[in-house]
Amino acid sequence: MKTVLIVGCHGVIGRQLVGGLGLKYNIIGCDIADACEDVEQYYKCDASDFDQLEPVFSKHKIDAVINLSGIKEMPCIPTLDDYKVMVDTYLNSTFMLLMKMRDHNVKKMVLASTNHVTDRYEEDGYSTLGREISPLDYPISKSVYGTLKLAAEGLCRNFNINYGIQTVALRIGTYRESYDPDDYQDRWDRTRLDTEDMLLYFEKAIEVECEVEVCYLVSENKDKPWDTSTLKKL
Ligand SMILES: NC(=O)c1ccc[n+]([C@@H]2O[C@H](COP(=O)([O-])OP(=O)(O)OC[C@H]3O[C@@H](n4cnc5c(N)ncnc54)[C@H](O)[C@@H]3O)[C@@H](O)[C@H]2O)c1
Repeated sequence: MKTVLIVGCHGVIGRQLVGGLGLKYNIIGCDIADACEDVEQYYKCDASDFDQLEPVFSKHKIDAVINLSGIKEMPCIPTLDDYKVMVDTYLNSTFMLLMKMRDHNVKKMVLASTNHVTDRYEEDGYSTLGREISPLDYPISKSVYGTLKLAAEGLCRNFNINYGIQTVALRIGTYRESYDPDDYQDRWDRTRLDTEDMLLYFEKAIEVECEVEVCYLVSENKDKPWDTSTLKKL
């Protein structure tokens, strides 16, 4: 049985993956939360801190890392203080994890990226290109969030070229714990990701042999804005 480290295991997606992948994999969880009841092998740890990660990697023979570290939604241009937290959460965590993966010979990274790396081409959940937005389209984002996620994808490429670490970057559409009708956005009809699809493709991402794959992770909703052909090939 493969051992999978889920970073950000206490979050919305993390809790679903812990439950959904727990029968197939030996799950290790880490998060900055004080406790995470769903994960037996839990480490309270800041993934952007190289030293805090060491006990996790030295104690377990990890086969794959899923990086889900995230914070609440921010305005396109955050405050100075929030910017620093975002750099730690999205960029530094990815770099530190990749360094530990190199040092401990871990082969696979699954990066929770975002559709916002190309949100300049999307309006209300519709593509503005007159066709679906493809992973091959030059990424332009309206937000620092999208730019940092793109940079995190770039770091994964650096570690693939130099150390052979494989990455699947999943540019997630919209996933919520529940879809409250009072708070529902029309956009989500097109951008939504169902739990079943999410579990299926995270598992495929763990298993596939690749260099760097970039996929939009969204369900097959009518008029969805993104091209999922690379996802289907996982
Ligand atoms: N949910 C979505 O619709 C969606 C869409 C696109 C991308 N994503 C990305 O997927 C990832 C997971 O999303 P989510 O909805 O579960 O987010 P979430 O905010 O519910 O969970 C993120 C988790 O990461 C933890 N975390 C934050 N900083 C950390 C650090 N330095 N070290 C370790 N853990 C840390 C948080 O405590 C939290 O438990 C995020 O990176 C997010 O940007 C989510």
